[in-house]
Amino acid sequence: MVLSLRLIIKKGIPSHLVSDAAKIFTEAFERKFVRIIGNKQRAHQLFLKGFNPQNALCAITEEGELVGVAGYHMNGKSLADLTLKDFIDEFGPFKGRLKAFAAHVLFSRKPSHPEELLMDSISVSASSRGMGAGTKLFAALIELAEEGNYTSIKLDVIDENPQAKKLYSRLGFKVVKHQKVPGFINRLIGVSGVSTMVKSIKP
Ligand SMILES: CC(C)(COP(=O)(O)OP(=O)(O)OC[C@H]1O[C@@H](n2cnc3c(N)ncnc32)[C@H](O)[C@@H]1OP(=O)(O)O)[C@@H](O)C(=O)NCCC(=O)NCCS
Repeated sequence: MVLSLRLIIKKGIPSHLVSDAAKIFTEAFERKFVRIIGNKQRAHQLFLKGFNPQNALCAITEEGELVGVAGYHMNGKSLADLTLKDFIDEFGPFKGRLKAFAAHVLFSRKPSHPEELLMDSISVSASSRGMGAGTKLFAALIELAEEGNYTSIKLDVIDENPQAKKLYSRLGFKVVKHQKVPGFINRLIGVSGVSTMVKSIKP
């Protein structure tokens, strides 16, 4: 039997749930970020520094537990914006610059045009996956895009995440670009390529 969660989807992350949101985000993106930053605890603290809770939709159970977060780029901000200074403060001038560079090359994205809504992350807590939270977050994101008169939504997905790619295809996203990741970065974080997927939004 597939369980379905009764969820409330909210725009923005309530302040008492921001730390939980950073934790879900860190766990979901362990492969991408944690190897660059060092360990989960450190990544969680660093993400919290650059978190913009207003740039997210979140899924909360009726009991008030946060189970999922979808971050998007708006007003020049993403859900987690880390600056060079954050990396230097955390790792010192040399390692800090190197790690900031790797993070920038791999994860820094911009919308292709002003009418495109860039989704920069979606993460559901491990124990709640496969129960509809991701689909509900996407439905709310599509609504947000329609209300804001966006014409498309763009996201990136790594080759090592075929399940997520399948979900995005089911939701109407199409691959518009594929980039191979340079060998040294593949060896560092185990990511071999990234697909960019776009979904058109009805005007
Ligand atoms: C991808 C993710 C956000 C989907 O959220 P979800 O709540 O599990 O998704 P739903 O329950 O609404 O939908 C389930 C669908 O997602 C797919 N899916 C992707 N990753 C999954 C996972 N780790 N566990 C269960 N289902 C997953 C299933 O194949 C299923 O597809 P189907 O209905 O066509 O069979 C969530 O699984 C997650 O946080 N994964 C880890 C982080 C991640 O990969 N983020 C995306 C980076 S691009």
